[in-house]
Amino acid sequence: MPDPRGLGTSTLQVCLILSLRYVIPAVCQCSGSSLTLSTTNDFQYFTTPGYNNGAGSYQSDLSCSWILDGGSSSWTVFLFVENYDVSCSGDFIDIYDGNATSSTALVTALCGTSQSGVYASTQRYVRVDFTSDSSNQGAGFSLAFMKAADLSGSGCSGEETLAASSTPQYITSPNFPGEYTVNSNCRWVVTAPIGTVSLEIIFSDVETSTNCAFDSLELYSGTYVCEKTKILSACTPHPNGVTASYTSNGTSFLVKFAADASLSFRGFVIKYSEIAPVVTTSSSAVVSSISSEGDFYLGLYIGLGSGAGGALLFVGMITLIRHFCMSQKGVSPNVKHVEPLSLRSTPSTRNNSICGSSSSSGDSTTRQKSFLCSTPISPGSGSLMLDIQRRKSSHHNNGFVH
Ligand SMILES: *[C@@H]1O[C@H](CO)[C@@H](O)[C@H](O)[C@H]1NC(C)=O
Ligand SMILES: *[C@@H]1O[C@H](CO)[C@@H](O)[C@H](O)[C@H]1NC(C)=O
Repeated sequence: MPDPRGLGTSTLQVCLILSLRYVIPAVCQCSGSSLTLSTTNDFQYFTTPGYNNGAGSYQSDLSCSWILDGGSSSWTVFLFVENYDVSCSGDFIDIYDGNATSSTALVTALCGTSQSGVYASTQRYVRVDFTSDSSNQGAGFSLAFMKAADLSGSGCSGEETLAASSTPQYITSPNFPGEYTVNSNCRWVVTAPIGTVSLEIIFSDVETSTNCAFDSLELYSGTYVCEKTKILSACTPHPNGVTASYTSNGTSFLVKFAADASLSFRGFVIKYSEIAPVVTTSSSAVVSSISSEGDFYLGLYIGLGSGAGGALLFVGMITLIRHFCMSQKGVSPNVKHVEPLSLRSTPSTRNNSICGSSSSSGDSTTRQKSFLCSTPISPGSGSLMLDIQRRKSSHHNNGFVH
């Protein structure tokens, strides 16, 4: 539910009728006073009055105003207008970088039917005004908003390991909500200390290219960049950017983001948390968390019995994938994707189809591709195996939990 703290008691009681989850119907903010909405790290939405999921219509002669508050100077506001239908003969949306009409406009006189671009403030407030005249009403609009900051941490200067917990945390592209930094080469390993990782891409806006060769947001099962464990390679811009949810089979996901030297978009927001292992005292239950082999564990949970007791049967199977990712000697001929970390940050790779390409002949780039899995950030090539061994042993303290 939207946090009502910023609304004021009278506003809350008189104006705000919370109906559907995350949807705040607009009422009194269209009759004189602006409505301040506090933001969260998740998208919330508001609509013009009468929007009715696009099937309704706003009234004539409206003058509506919403102020979106990032809550402190640490946060800016990120937003986009969802599907909208605003008659261009006298009705329009204005969005300001600030809480007053004297603030710099992010967009003025937005009207028509389409999906708009994305907008970001440079400080904690955004003001959205909607004006309608006496004729030709459209359906109105729904607007998505969240508070925003660059939550890329240290993942773009070296691989960053993040511990998931039951409280959701967030990763963004570097410089979010601004356009992502060119030549980015970022990795985050999200690990669940005892359970599994729930990971959700809640926004993405990445330059498109064949095989995501220019810019890409990638997700891997486990802690290595390895073609065998790749789950996603995304490169489509808003409003068609990928949004999706994943639950890890093992204890970790690796998130990789790479951008070339030109054409930046807004990037992404990922939400992650830990799903704790189910523990029950029922005598018949067998419960386990993921084993120490979790990084490349592929297995199967089968939940049995939705009724009382809720017994959970753990059926596990360790595959040999980890083997393939641990050793160059284990290179299998059908594993095509081999990607040294350093390659993506150079402009000259722009025309290389690195993602999914089986590569061509004999230059140094191809030679480097003989590594099945790329190294974490920046060890010299000679330290690859050492590093993997170190990382492997560092995970051996994850025991079974009963
Ligand atoms: C508008 O922004 C100013 C700072 O720019 C702040 O002092 C003021 O409280 C804000 N007012 C509202 C209604 O958000
Ligand atoms: C989990 O394992 C199944 C079966 O191998 C696979 O299809 C699925 O993509 C895996 N999911 C993740 C998130 O790794």
